[in-house]
Amino acid sequence: MTKFFLAASGTLFFIATTASADVPPPPAADPITKCKGCHGPDLAGKAKSPSIAGEDKDKIKASLTTKIPKQMTAIAKALTTEQIDALSAQISAMPKPAPK
Ligand code: HEC
Repeated sequence: MTKFFLAASGTLFFIATTASADVPPPPAADPITKCKGCHGPDLAGKAKSPSIAGEDKDKIKASLTTKIPKQMTAIAKALTTEQIDALSAQISAMPKPAPK
């Protein structure tokens, strides 16, 4: 009679080391998405919000720092200096829409 050795030894253990600890944090929401909500998907203006695409960098920066329109108070206050610099550069580099 054949003896069956159930190979339930410790060598069969295989602990899959998942890389869960290396999962990067989700990217911070791009603040320009918020601007688009009011200024339109291409920032070319919508309803009561003027076109801001291709505007002067300093003017955009002023609108987020020293001369904040009241409709933009909440969003402007939530931005960091780095975000304001990045947004001003990014938006001023966008093509200005053709006048309607
Ligand atoms: C809640 C709606 C809203 C959001 C969100 C918003 N804006 Fe505005 N923004 C306005 C309105 C309305 C005006 C016009 C205010 C006025 O003329 O008094 C304006 C004006 C501006 C102006 C001045 C334009 C001009 O020609 O005078 C700039 C620049 C600007 N916004 C940039 C931004 C940027 C950059 C963001 C995103 C960080 C943003 N806005 C988000 C509503 C918004």
